[in-house]
Amino acid sequence: MLQSKIQEYTEEIRAFAPSNNEDVENFRLKFLVAKGIVRNLFEEFKGVPSEQKRLLGKELNELKNLAESTYEEAKQKFIDSSDGDDTEHLDLSLPAEGMQLGSRHPLSLVRKEIIGIFAKLGFVVSEGPEIEDDWHNFTALNFPPEHPARDMQDTFFISNDKENPIALRTHTSSVQVRMMEQGKPPFRAIMPGRVYRNEAISARAHCFFHQVEGLYVDKEVSFADLKQTLFYFVQELFGEGTKVRFRPSYFPFTEPSAEMDISCSICKGKGCQLCKQSGWVEILGCGMVDPQVLENCGIDSEEFSGFAFGMGIERIANLKYEIRDLRLFSENDLRFLSQFDSELI
Ligand code: PHE
Repeated sequence: MLQSKIQEYTEEIRAFAPSNNEDVENFRLKFLVAKGIVRNLFEEFKGVPSEQKRLLGKELNELKNLAESTYEEAKQKFIDSSDGDDTEHLDLSLPAEGMQLGSRHPLSLVRKEIIGIFAKLGFVVSEGPEIEDDWHNFTALNFPPEHPARDMQDTFFISNDKENPIALRTHTSSVQVRMMEQGKPPFRAIMPGRVYRNEAISARAHCFFHQVEGLYVDKEVSFADLKQTLFYFVQELFGEGTKVRFRPSYFPFTEPSAEMDISCSICKGKGCQLCKQSGWVEILGCGMVDPQVLENCGIDSEEFSGFAFGMGIERIANLKYEIRDLRLFSENDLRFLSQFDSELI
């Protein structure tokens, strides 16, 4: 009898208490597919005498709705929320997946090492803004307006106000100016920071890079102090026995000026691709602070003298880690970065 079947299944559906996906799927297969119970009952309904059709039709529709809503509810609870992931097979006794630790960026590692070495000599860290005015980046450093030396540094200008152009700093020498203006000698500080130059990006040049510059101003500071300080620095950073040589050079803010080479850390001076077979690689510019620069910053150049130097962190990192392409530093490629395992503090 159709009526008793409807009653029986209604009770069965009401009592349905699935405990996993499989129960829910079996429910669907039993009641809701083309050859399932609900369809079969409708088939049977066709043969019911017409005086019973009204009542049984209503009951049958209710059964159908009940089966569908029960299934939807159960599906939401199990199938939808499991994201296709069969929680039934979750094995809580499995060992946990290791947490991936990050590593320090190679430029941070090198910067940290440089700061550490100069700290032993009593140099403190001094920082300044990346957006600079003309005075701090150029004029105070002896680059008069229209001076051709300004072309040495391809500048990104932010505002071209004739009176006071604003630019992205092209070197951290600007921080030296700020420091000298604000304080009183003696100064012994290094200035790490990001600098910008309008250059086409290639393996050997980038539109931004990082520098550490240094400044030492006191009474009777001499070129010998400069040489000894940088010699000590190089022994610490590249190992004892690393040779240094100074070549005369030109910077508007130092006089005399020099560039310092070290014996190639890769071929140990024998000659390789990196040092272009010369056995030497240039790592920094330096010199005695031009007395005019001291005066520009309100320091009596009769009483005080000083030396300054500046190096690119990328260049040092290239030498230390044999990196041949500057672009690697800013591409955030984990295959590159994860090679620099380091302590996290
Ligand atoms: N400011 C120079 C540069 O960026 C480097 C430098 C600093 C040279 C101090 C000499 C003395 O190229």
